[in-house]
Amino acid sequence: MNILITGGAGFIGSHVVRRLVTTYPNYHIYNLDALTYAGNLENLTDVESASNYTFIKGDITEADFIDALFQEHQFDGVIHLAAESHVDRSITDPMAFVKTNVMGTVHLLNAFKSLWQDNFEGKRFYHVSTDEVYGSLGKTGLFTETTPYDPNSPYSASKASSDHFVRAYGETYGMPYVISNCSNNYGPNHFPEKLIPLFINNIIQKQPLPVYGDGNYTRDWLYVKDHARAIDLVYHKGKNAETYNIGGFNEWTNLNLVKLLCQQMDEKLGRPTGDSEKLITYVKDRPGHDLRYAIDSTKIHKELGWKPSVTFEEGLAKTIDWYLKNEEWLARVTSGDYREYYERQYK
Ligand code: NAD
Ligand code: TYD
Repeated sequence: MNILITGGAGFIGSHVVRRLVTTYPNYHIYNLDALTYAGNLENLTDVESASNYTFIKGDITEADFIDALFQEHQFDGVIHLAAESHVDRSITDPMAFVKTNVMGTVHLLNAFKSLWQDNFEGKRFYHVSTDEVYGSLGKTGLFTETTPYDPNSPYSASKASSDHFVRAYGETYGMPYVISNCSNNYGPNHFPEKLIPLFINNIIQKQPLPVYGDGNYTRDWLYVKDHARAIDLVYHKGKNAETYNIGGFNEWTNLNLVKLLCQQMDEKLGRPTGDSEKLITYVKDRPGHDLRYAIDSTKIHKELGWKPSVTFEEGLAKTIDWYLKNEEWLARVTSGDYREYYERQYK
């Protein structure tokens, strides 16, 4: 079985690649990644020489290249994670999100369709998506698989659009597919433009912790390895043409999360209690900032037996330990372009 994973050099993709390469020696795993600022082959050094693994540098927005690749390797399955993934970047450059997330996805769908349209038996296209497509919750309620789409940011609008295209290819051409919509992930290898790794880095550097608005925004956090395990399960056991919501029943306001992070880091760094909290700085809010995300993951629990394996306190501690052990990784990814991005976004 030849499986294509797109975006496998990124945060979640690298955990999915590792899991599949090590769990299924009878599969050949192809990792297609353009290595944008967010892609990093250092995330995969432990599996790069596995005999059932091949890395391909390439861009999903290049239709001819994608078609040729599918013809050459005859991918039986696709697990599609490649995307522009940061909301703040989507606010300054929406078109990059349309190009990769919408058009790139449609190029992959076309290539998969051309290859198998005479017989889709045993084939599967899996689109990895986000809970942000459902928009924002008020103080109560949870996103279920039937919550209407209501995206608010260019990022979430582009992911909603790509979800719709995947469904449409299923309906129109009979293409076998599955979609999952997951809540906010955290864990090792997370690029430090997102809240948790950015704040870990800033705490290490004793730099300000830029909390948007009043910090009373809520996210539902899931440890990335639990997401990778869910993706493995949905790919193999999920029902055709279904959506699965994945989340940790683990809601935190940004402010409470940052306080917990500061406490754990003070302990690990041997700093006095309360030291890092002094770095909290309230900054201008994100435009169109969604108030609250929270996932009802009952369906994947009931149908596939999945549930998160770690508490948030455990997962966060493991995450901090990883960043403290991998300061060189952090130093490398925060040099060069990252500095320019940081200046633009926060100064
Ligand atoms: P990431 O930004 O860390 O990684 C994205 C990867 O895609 C990078 O390796 C990048 O090089 C690659 N890529 C970008 N554009 C490409 C292109 N045109 N061609 C080929 N490769 C390209 O993102 P992530 O956080 O790992 O997210 C992965 C997927 O999961 C995304 O589709 C995202 O929407 C979804 N998701 C993320 C989260 C989260 O909390 N991070 C939650 C739910 C869903
Ligand atoms: P983020 O990690 O960008 O994920 P998403 O926007 O996809 O949920 O942000 C998580 C929350 O943290 C979100 O409410 C925005 C907030 N945030 C800050 O307060 N400051 C920051 O510097 C960043 C990057 C995010």
